[in-house]
Amino acid sequence: MCGIVGYIGNRNAANILIEGLEKLEYRGYDSAGIAVINENGVEVKKHKGRLSVLKDSLGEKVLEGTIGIGHTRWATHGEPSDVNAHPHLNSNNAIAVVHNGIIENYIPLKEELIEKGYEFKSDTDTEVIPHLIDCYYNGNIIETVQKVVSMLEGSYALGIIDSNNPDMVIAVRKDSPLVVGIGEGENFIASDIPAILNHTRKVYLLENNDMAVLRADSVEIMKTDGTKVNREIFNVNWNVESAEKGGYDHFMIKEIHEQPKAIKDTISSRINRMGQIDIKDITLEKEYIRNINKIYMVSCGTAYHAGLVGKVLIEKYAKIPVIAEVASEFRYGNPFIDENTLMIVVSQSGETADTLAALRLAKERKAKVLAVTNVVGSSISRESDYPLYTWAGPEIAVASTKAYTAQLAALALIALDMAVKRGAVEDVSEIVNELKLLPEKVEEILKHLDEMKKMAEEVYKTEDIFFIGRGLDYYVAMEGSLKLKEISYIHSEAMAAGELKHGTLALIDKGTPVIALATQDKLYDKMLSNIKEVKARGAYVIGVAKESNREIEKIVDRVIYIPEVMDELSPVLAVVPLQILAYYVALNRGCDIDKPRNLAKSVTVE
Ligand code: F6R
Repeated sequence: MCGIVGYIGNRNAANILIEGLEKLEYRGYDSAGIAVINENGVEVKKHKGRLSVLKDSLGEKVLEGTIGIGHTRWATHGEPSDVNAHPHLNSNNAIAVVHNGIIENYIPLKEELIEKGYEFKSDTDTEVIPHLIDCYYNGNIIETVQKVVSMLEGSYALGIIDSNNPDMVIAVRKDSPLVVGIGEGENFIASDIPAILNHTRKVYLLENNDMAVLRADSVEIMKTDGTKVNREIFNVNWNVESAEKGGYDHFMIKEIHEQPKAIKDTISSRINRMGQIDIKDITLEKEYIRNINKIYMVSCGTAYHAGLVGKVLIEKYAKIPVIAEVASEFRYGNPFIDENTLMIVVSQSGETADTLAALRLAKERKAKVLAVTNVVGSSISRESDYPLYTWAGPEIAVASTKAYTAQLAALALIALDMAVKRGAVEDVSEIVNELKLLPEKVEEILKHLDEMKKMAEEVYKTEDIFFIGRGLDYYVAMEGSLKLKEISYIHSEAMAAGELKHGTLALIDKGTPVIALATQDKLYDKMLSNIKEVKARGAYVIGVAKESNREIEKIVDRVIYIPEVMDELSPVLAVVPLQILAYYVALNRGCDIDKPRNLAKSVTVE
């Protein structure tokens, strides 16, 4: 999730690009760069670090040129560094490309180009694109780009300039947002509207497989097969602040909506065409996986809740015992670690102090560490043996949402990869197929925001709330409860539903809200009994169940249905209504949703 901006017109492009990138820095900030065309050809400046580093390097010197592209990066392939920063160039520095998204088939494309004599400077997936354009150039840059994008798999928003065609910027979009801003005698591209809002409010919202050719005084839009299309002009009436949030009121609700993409990006390049798990970015040797005797799953907060689900999946499919612990306890405990122990740490930021300390402890004792993190180049990813990234993009709201569902997806991939390598299961095709369907099922849930909004209005005044569930639903209940308490400040507890009668039931009184998760087919009847227990004490129950399990309607006050899904993957869906409910409850209570009191996004102290 990086930021793109592009300009063509009569003004100094570099200044407009830098100003646009400043508005996009919230999307990614590990490196930034610009490329402009001037009498020297394509001139590029790019640097690791915040945009200020790039600005300092430009200093007072004006980079001439009235056409250019810029990028602020959130690393996926390749560490944050000067060479990995965008724009990327072909060998003779004529073609420059900025890219958001992931080119899933970049490895075979890169191999093919290397065979043809192309030399690569960076570790990025993006660099294949300028080389491919160079390789297939037929004298017509538009046709060449069309040919090249037909070879790409994955998601991409592209900004392309070519010094042989210095009168145009080419933009292409597939599964990664991109808009064209329409000015007078000038035009813009941007991955996000805020980047260009100071210059125009008239934009084309490009659709998948759209290609735009921008000249100073015209914009031509076509499909990537060359067919001309007309797109309506969209007049932006948001202010800059709400535009940063994509028109949403808060980053949290924006990030909730980004979950289908976060899940898709995390899994799609790791499932090959034959439907096999193929995690190319880490090399978990079969021999090593077969010798693992136990796994410690260590993390904090939401990441810990993801780890609990990961534990169930690994134990079920890979048949390796997993001990899940919060890092702050683990690091001062007496763990049994040997060289056949694998530690899996889960951390969105990759900087959490307790998780990092746990990782170091495991390494001291010769265990290997697999890290599921969302930040390339973070301390945890660097110090681990196997850094596996969730490609959720920067998460800005303190309350984690898209990072959590992406963690669940990544942990499912790990469980299945291990299962296959250990020969622990015959066939994982059913769950792999279901994994691929998760993004659209989450999309489906997001169509029902109004129902959750209404329920939030019914419960937001409460002082206590309980979340109950069994099996995986219990772990989702823990996450739902944390989400609610951290942003709404309502006292909330998650309980294993079977434990209610061992104490907590005493707290259930007339009108006490209870969120009851009943998405596990094999535990459904048990769960209905638990719901009856709380109903009998006067609880106000909101049930969460799969569409086909309608029996629940008869005993609860409200019910939220999630699409059909196999039990093992239901946490990815079941958590979404809970996130939305928490959001609307906090909204009704007037809380500072994106920056809840007393909390920080990255906990780098013990
Ligand atoms: C809650 C939340 C926290 C984090 C926890 C670990 O919404 O975000 O509980 O999950 O602080 O942070 P990371 O994942 O960065 O290690």
